[in-house]
Amino acid sequence: MRIAIPKERTALEARVALVPESVSKLVKAGVEVVVEHGAGSSASFPDEQYTAAGATVAADYATCVAGAHLICKVQPPTADETAAIPEGAAVICYLQPAVYPDAVQRLNGRKASALALELVPRITRAQSMDVLSSQATISGYRAVLLGASALGRLMPMLSTAAGTLAPAKVFVLGAGVAGLQAVATARRLGAIVSGFDVRPAAREQILSLGAQVLKIEGVADAEGSGGYAREQTAEEKQKTQDAIKAHLAQMDLVITTAAIPGKKAPILVTEDALKGMKPGAVIVDLAAETGGNAVGTKAGETVEIGGVKILGPINVPSQAAFHASQMLSRNIHTLLQHVLTKENTLNLDANDEITGAMLVCQNGTVKV
Ligand code: NAI
Repeated sequence: MRIAIPKERTALEARVALVPESVSKLVKAGVEVVVEHGAGSSASFPDEQYTAAGATVAADYATCVAGAHLICKVQPPTADETAAIPEGAAVICYLQPAVYPDAVQRLNGRKASALALELVPRITRAQSMDVLSSQATISGYRAVLLGASALGRLMPMLSTAAGTLAPAKVFVLGAGVAGLQAVATARRLGAIVSGFDVRPAAREQILSLGAQVLKIEGVADAEGSGGYAREQTAEEKQKTQDAIKAHLAQMDLVITTAAIPGKKAPILVTEDALKGMKPGAVIVDLAAETGGNAVGTKAGETVEIGGVKILGPINVPSQAAFHASQMLSRNIHTLLQHVLTKENTLNLDANDEITGAMLVCQNGTVKV
């Protein structure tokens, strides 16, 4: 079994799929690992660490993937990258088949078997393979730091000889993995933190982190299947928007993370609500890549509307590439332990609960 780890070429991608710690474990288990020169450098894992872990360093992409049985990447392979993949090899990466159908078709054209990282089922057994959770943890943490840096105020209350500074008021909208980490991070920085989520379980978790929950009268719980949120009714949306608008008018920093899988993100900060916000307030919209939770959000940009800054960062985990790669790598290594046999051959069983859910194409057939 030969595993290739290419260097990522997509803009803003600083992560690497496998870090030396995981490579060392794979090599000890008898797997041959080839890493492209510089693959880990943007995440602070130099070639020498891969060599010390037992990998071979290849000078370029083509040499790296030549003869590989499995290619572990972060972003979907480009057309050129796919063309160099050995026919019938397997690929593990983020694929988003609905967003990048061409990438899936290209891989299928090479008769590649592809496992999409983001399709990991949200079940207990797959938790240690769950890149959605590991990378959302980084996003939630970073969102608070991005917001704190963009604010003209400090986060904690300070009593100084030059007077007392009031603590910042932070509101986190959407308390999944990213949102809860944002709540915890803002609390650590000393802010007064509140949160809101349509799922009752998330509201309990906000409270358990010592933050307040925004209560909305007359709105039923909106928990859908698989623990994800369901879409609210029109009346529920209106009541929610009114309550959020009144709360937003008091806030200094707002972190939005609300997403509905496979759909455009719901607008939670409306034009009207934005107008009522304080000058100098900051919104960090983690849903920017799927349309944004705030009116005016532009993915990859910072815009200012009526004195309110709206940050729409994309690929936030990549901004903390060292730890993001370390977590991603552990997730992928656990997945590898699931799909590699004792003899180090790949067993991509479409009927397996985890592998089957992640399998996008196999033997020339697209499965999703
Ligand atoms: P996500 O990224 O899909 O959404 C973020 C948050 O936004 C969610 O908490 C969602 O309820 C909330 N949201 C959606 N629409 C909203 C609205 N209109 N207003 C306010 N909030 C809204 O969520 P994430 O972090 O991926 O977690 C999704 C679910 O999966 C959660 O129930 C979580 O507990 C569960 N989960 C299960 C795991 C496992 O068992 N392996 C691992 C991680 C998460």
